Amino acid sequence: MEINKEIERRRTFAIISHPDAGKTTLTEKLLLFGGAIHVAGAVKSNKIKKTATSDWMEIEKQRGISVATSVMGFEYEGYKINILDTPGHQDFAEDTFRTLTAVDSVIIVVDAAKGVERQTRRLMEVCRMRNTPVIIFVNKMDREGKDPFDILDELEKELQIRVRPLSWPINIGAKFKGVYNIYEHTLDLFTPSKQTVTERIQLSDINSPEIDRLVGEDDATKLREDMELIDGVYPEFDKSEYLKGEEAPVFFGSALNTFGVKELLDCFVRIAPSPKPVETKEREVRPEEPEFSGFVFKIHANMDPNHRSCIAFVKVCSGKFERNVNYKHMRSGKMMRFSAPTAFMAQKKSVVDEAYPGDIVGLPDTGNFKIGDTLTAGENLNFKGLPSFSPEMFKYIENDDPMKAKQLDKGIRQLMDEGVAQMFTSQFNGRKIIGTVGQLQFEVIQYRLLHEYGAQCRWEPISLYKACWIESDDKDQLEQFKKRKHQFMATDKEGRDVFMADSNYVLQMAQKDFPAIKFHFSSEF
Ligand code: G4P
Repeated sequence: MEINKEIERRRTFAIISHPDAGKTTLTEKLLLFGGAIHVAGAVKSNKIKKTATSDWMEIEKQRGISVATSVMGFEYEGYKINILDTPGHQDFAEDTFRTLTAVDSVIIVVDAAKGVERQTRRLMEVCRMRNTPVIIFVNKMDREGKDPFDILDELEKELQIRVRPLSWPINIGAKFKGVYNIYEHTLDLFTPSKQTVTERIQLSDINSPEIDRLVGEDDATKLREDMELIDGVYPEFDKSEYLKGEEAPVFFGSALNTFGVKELLDCFVRIAPSPKPVETKEREVRPEEPEFSGFVFKIHANMDPNHRSCIAFVKVCSGKFERNVNYKHMRSGKMMRFSAPTAFMAQKKSVVDEAYPGDIVGLPDTGNFKIGDTLTAGENLNFKGLPSFSPEMFKYIENDDPMKAKQLDKGIRQLMDEGVAQMFTSQFNGRKIIGTVGQLQFEVIQYRLLHEYGAQCRWEPISLYKACWIESDDKDQLEQFKKRKHQFMATDKEGRDVFMADSNYVLQMAQKDFPAIKFHFSSEF
């Protein structure tokens, strides 16, 4: 059947990394191999440089660029590949968390010299929660870096996943000679000046004297010793373990030098999963079902403040999505028809007539959609799995222009629906608390409220540690807790109880004193 063939050839994934590890460079090289772009340097870096945190032009520029690069689709050897871009700046980590709910697998880029950094650790937690299969690319092997065995240990410890090298570097930095490709049994030689072609030598045996000739006796001996150690320590690569998210294959290379990238891509298309069944509150939805269903994982507001038009990004989960067909918007119960849905090929946006599971369609919208909304062909389904995570920074938001209270309310509501930050309402004093993962988000909110809604807000400090969604089967204890912690209780956008702990100590004491209450750090439990 046509739909099965289309599903089977789709690979929808995200590249995640700590800023500067090489995500943009790797993305660009993958697009080059897919023929989606023709020259290096075509993918604009979508990151806001650290020095420019208050540079509004940069933020606006970033918003503009990131629409174009939100999804990059291309064809490669019969596969349809969709790369979902994630914001480079760590203050927008929440955006990345949500994007991870729309991918079927992930490639993690790690800098060989810096190893596993903070942002990578956090993003991996989200992958682990969802058992997302991950492949790791250790980048910048052309620079001095850590010992590869130490890197593997670090990956295993810091990312809490079993690793299995599928390529192995021969020396590093200035002496980097290339990699032995364990997956394909080839020797891939590195020449720094060469930009796109890897010299590849097919090997029947790791003991072949050919290796000594090509990389020198010392490095050849070291390679053989390393390989023996790897075979002794790491079990054979097991694709099923990878697909369960329990084992991560590791590749070494240099994105800047286009080295090891094609090898990564070739292995990726072969082992990475095509779209899988997705859970809804009602039942499991299989991609090959004939009826369309999908969910909104990202909303992008238009930069033109005079028109409140947005693009809602929908991941197709089942069936075929078609232009000009009526679909049901579950939250409102309304039927909707889209005459200009867009798809994303390379860096171009164009109107599409149809899309298959794994694809992302952009739906022009004027404020109907919220993050997490479900669209179906008519059946009542609601996709699960778009959790909000506990923010890390909190501030009271106050109106600074009494004449514009309505505008402020509307602006806050819409920005929250778009997923810019999370809002909690204090049950104690009714004040609104905005929670973010980074300082920059507060600045963005203030700026956008003023420029898009004409409303002025002011931030007031509040000292909080974490927001915890609470629940309990023991109704008495729950009531007792809420009474005791009245000052620190708030409600989230869905009206659920949230405990705003002001310190780790207070939280630990609360957990100890109220054992029947469960404290959750994400809204999905
Ligand atoms: P990011 O998206 O993860 O933030 O990283 P990005 O690709 O922008 O790469 C960060 C820096 O690392 C860039 O240098 C890039 O050229 C460099 N880089 C990426 N891959 C490699 C590699 O394999 N080897 C080496 N030596 N460097 C690499 P930059 O100076 O910050 O930016 P640019 O001025 O070169 O664009």
